[in-house]
This record gives sequence, C-alpha cells and structure tokens, in this order.
Amino acid sequence: MNNPGFAASDSNSGNGSTNVALKLEDLQKDYFLKGETVHALNGVTFEVPEGDFLSIMGPSGSGKSTLLNLVGCLDRPTGGKLYMGPDDVSQMSDNQLSQIRATRIGFVFQSFNLIPQLTLVENIEVPLYYQGKLSRTSRKHCEEMADLVGLGDRLNHRPAQLSGGQQQRAAIARSLVNDPFFVLADEPTGNLDTKTTEEILHLFGDLNKAGKTIVMVTHEDEVAAFTRRVIRLRDGLMEFDRKNDSFGSAYGHGRADLTAPDQPTSPAATSPAATSPDSPAPPAAEEP
Ligand SMILES: Nc1ncnc2c1ncn2[C@@H]1O[C@H](COP(=O)(O)OP(=O)(O)OP(=O)(O)O)[C@@H](O)[C@H]1O
Ligand SMILES: [Mg+2]
Repeated sequence: MNNPGFAASDSNSGNGSTNVALKLEDLQKDYFLKGETVHALNGVTFEVPEGDFLSIMGPSGSGKSTLLNLVGCLDRPTGGKLYMGPDDVSQMSDNQLSQIRATRIGFVFQSFNLIPQLTLVENIEVPLYYQGKLSRTSRKHCEEMADLVGLGDRLNHRPAQLSGGQQQRAAIARSLVNDPFFVLADEPTGNLDTKTTEEILHLFGDLNKAGKTIVMVTHEDEVAAFTRRVIRLRDGLMEFDRKNDSFGSAYGHGRADLTAPDQPTSPAATSPAATSPDSPAPPAAEEP
C-alpha cells in the first residue's frame, strides 16, 4: 500500500550526535483528592533522543496517562523537571504550555478526534486554523499531508465516510501538519482491528524512519513490538527501559526499508523546528 512519499532520512542510523527531544528528571505527579494524596508518578527519569520510537506500557493505574499528560504539556508536574529540547517546560505558564502544544507536539488519540462536519483536508487544517495560519499554500500543504498518509484521493470525504484506519491516518496527517518536534500517540490502535492496526503501525514506522520522534502509549505487546524501545511503568515508577531487539522484524517481509539498526539512543531527526498543534477541542463549525 502504503505510504508513498516518506523520504527516508539517515537520522536513525546511529552515525552521528544525538539531540534530546525530551528529558524527564525525577518527574513526579501527585493528585490531591478529598484530602488524600495520590502519588501517580513517583520520580521517573529518562531521555528520548530525537528519532526515537518509544512505547510506554504498564498496568492500569501505573501512571501512563499521567506521564502522557505531562509530556503533552496538558498538565504540570508536582516535582522534578521536564525538558523539551533545551527548554524546561515544568515551570511554564499556561499560555506558554499551550503555545508549546500548538507548535511542537503532534497528538494522535485512540478515538481519532476528527471533527465530523469537516472534510478530511479541513480536519488536517485544524491546527493551522488555530494558529491563524490558513492560506492557499497551507491548503496545498494539507493536501500533501493527506497524500503522505495515502489519502490523497479522499480529500473531500467526511470522517463518517472513511474507515477507522483511514480516520486514524487523517489524524496522523493532522498531527504532522506543523512538523512537530515529536508525535505523542495515546493508544492509537486501540479502536482498530488487527490488520488496520498493522497498517497504522507501518505508517508510524515509516514516519519514524523519515526521522520523526514518536512516543506511544499502548497496552499491547504486539503493538510495542513495532517500536524501537519500550518503557514499562509500575506504581508510578519505571520498571524497565529497554531496547526492542526485535524491532524491524514486526514489520514482516518485504519491508527492507524498515531494517534500520534499532538504537534507542539513535541520533537526530529532521529539523526540530515548529509543529503541529492538534487541538482536542473542536473549533467553531465554520470551515477553517
Ligand atoms: N485526576 C486525578 N485525581 C486523582 N487521582 C488520579 C487522577 N488521575 C489519575 N489518578 C490516579 O493516578 C494513578 C495513575 O493513573 P493513570 O491514569 O496515569 O494510570 P494509567 O496507567 O493511564 O491507567 P490506565 O491503563 O487504566 O489508563 C491511578 O492510581 C489513578 O487513580
Ligand atoms: Mg490511561
């Protein structure tokens, strides 16, 4: 099939210096509820080099969503530090955090979060709409993004006229529209059947091969098998952080382009520049 247009970069080939996309230092999050304190994250420390493809696993209640909310700048830690590139985001104001979300992080959700009234290409445009960046050029860019995820012939379809896998592809295109610093995916295949799950994971794999840093939360070992590295949480602590020795093999036969060395500390991706906001909140019902 699948994803024409991904230019392979050598960013994962382990042959250069490594820039850090994300750095967590003794990251802690407490929730306070009816006089009780819940220690959801108890001091988690790890780095995500640019070009990494990381899955975060762990049993229910282990702190995955809490971690994702912090890394996605949707919430602030109660202790420790969180760096995005060189910037410490743990102390930033709400406005600064929302700016980071809008420009440096691409979000992909289990339930796709497409806006039903908008066409596919308009959905991809949503992050640009929120930034006041719509133009004729941006429309063309969004069409190219649709093409990149194999949906160039579905531009005017509405979400209900797309399959689940196509909707998730559209959501991935939307997450990429601002060239994010990294993509955060929360159970992105949770609502998909096995075959479609594989297609979406291939798409993420191609994207990572092209240099994009991806952090994905998943419950499923079969899904984590597609990533370069797996971190497992338990009771708000990191249980293990390991390189996936079988990375590449999960992609099956005939995908020689995905046999790059599996280095969790692989070096730099494409430019760590600007990015895509993906906005959890729906925009006004007008066309962007
Ligand atoms: N807003 C909140 N207020 C109080 N406690 C919370 C809040 N959010 C999460 N918790 C608690 O923090 C802990 C970690 O929760 P979290 O949602 O991060 O787990 P999870 O690993 O995502 O679980 P699941 O796999 O079930 O989604 C749990 O004990 C949970 O009850
Ligand atoms: Mg969760």
